Amino acid sequence: MIKKGIILAGGKGTRMSPLTKAVNKQLLPIYDKPLIFYPLSILMLAGIRDILIIVNKGQLNQYKKIIPNGNNFGVKIQYLEQDHPRGLPDAFILGEKFINKRNVCLILGDNFFYGQNLSSILKKCTQLKNGAKVLLHKVNNPQLFGVAKINGKKIKQIKEKPKKFISDLAITGLYFFDSKVSGLAKSLKPSKRGELEIVDLLNKYLKKGKLSAELIGRGGAWLDTGSIDDFYKTSNFVSSIENRQGFKVACLEEIAFNKKWINQKKLKAAIKFYGNCAYSEYLKKLVKI
Ligand code: DAU
Repeated sequence: MIKKGIILAGGKGTRMSPLTKAVNKQLLPIYDKPLIFYPLSILMLAGIRDILIIVNKGQLNQYKKIIPNGNNFGVKIQYLEQDHPRGLPDAFILGEKFINKRNVCLILGDNFFYGQNLSSILKKCTQLKNGAKVLLHKVNNPQLFGVAKINGKKIKQIKEKPKKFISDLAITGLYFFDSKVSGLAKSLKPSKRGELEIVDLLNKYLKKGKLSAELIGRGGAWLDTGSIDDFYKTSNFVSSIENRQGFKVACLEEIAFNKKWINQKKLKAAIKFYGNCAYSEYLKKLVKI
């Protein structure tokens, strides 16, 4: 069982400047809550309660105002600062002590997942014992992502942002690794763009025949929030679902309450923390007062 998770929520967010000049991208709103709530909710739905959030140097206080620790939603949250965006595998180097030779899940702070069978896919992924596992999703613009060419469930080839078409299955920003990951990340050399590449790390597992994949089918949604247009599209998606159903997407306290990680007292503390707002009104419906 994978019990540890890392959210990589740093990066300069330069593509979204001036919005990201003062505020980190992952704290900007996706409809009615900060973006970071969504990847955090995915770790929680996967049953992961020991969480490290890696943030950009100098922006830790912004995060702590919204998520001081995981107390109100029954998880343990630690923070680390990254002084420079050195690439996604840097999460396993910075987080080596946190990982402590256990298996670990990594989710990118700007990734959004939604779908009925998501919880069962997550359950399967957290069973990983050896090797690494990625989640794939069909996209229209594979040249913008890491992609995987597969044969049945077997991965044949992976490539970061290929100019020439090899597959339309994007490698989403949710990865599962065995305890060897920090050592392997440390053995990587920076690419031409000066970053450690997640695809190079995954290729180390692929070469040993230890990289597997799960597919998020067409009933599931995976949206990446790299640009301002993506932010509005994802916000509209969440707004449509929430207003139609009356359920919130990624309400952290609701997930924790349903999993019996927190009690009514903690819910009341959360309502006090958020103050007079629609999110608190929603939490009030869960508390029998
Ligand atoms: O979203 C999925 C894609 O994410 C994958 O398909 C690609 O294989 C993977 O390389 C990655 O591509 P991106 O171009 O989207 O990565 P980006 O550099 O935008 O970083 C993703 C998030 O991670 C973003 O929220 C910023 C954060 N980040 C990134 C780097 C490189 C950090 O916190 N630290 C870093 O050093």
